[in-house]
Amino acid sequence: MRIRFETNKGETVEAEAREGDILLDVAQAAGMPLEGTCEGQMACSTCHVIVADEWFGRLPDASEEEEDMLDLAAAVARTSRLSCQIVLGPEHDGLTVRIPAESHDMRRF
Ligand code: FES
Repeated sequence: MRIRFETNKGETVEAEAREGDILLDVAQAAGMPLEGTCEGQMACSTCHVIVADEWFGRLPDASEEEEDMLDLAAAVARTSRLSCQIVLGPEHDGLTVRIPAESHDMRRF
């Protein structure tokens, strides 16, 4: 399936994903600047993405822990999610998410 990332520079990057992939891993492999510092332990919120409106309702609901973490993320929006919590399946072909402007990868500095 294909996943579409909209970068904070306004570019669109498409990436190929397989069933069972974690959205965060796909984003990082596509060069998106998401740190994912805690590697999916829901302790950092540096994997925050903003899901396209039309896709938000098609993802499973966020857990309470995820909601709590999102409260601490920079530039949260109504359709914000933690990408480390999204497991991809065939139903997500075409999923589009935006990388928040505040995202930058510390490892590059
Ligand atoms: Fe830390 Fe997702 S990688 S909350």
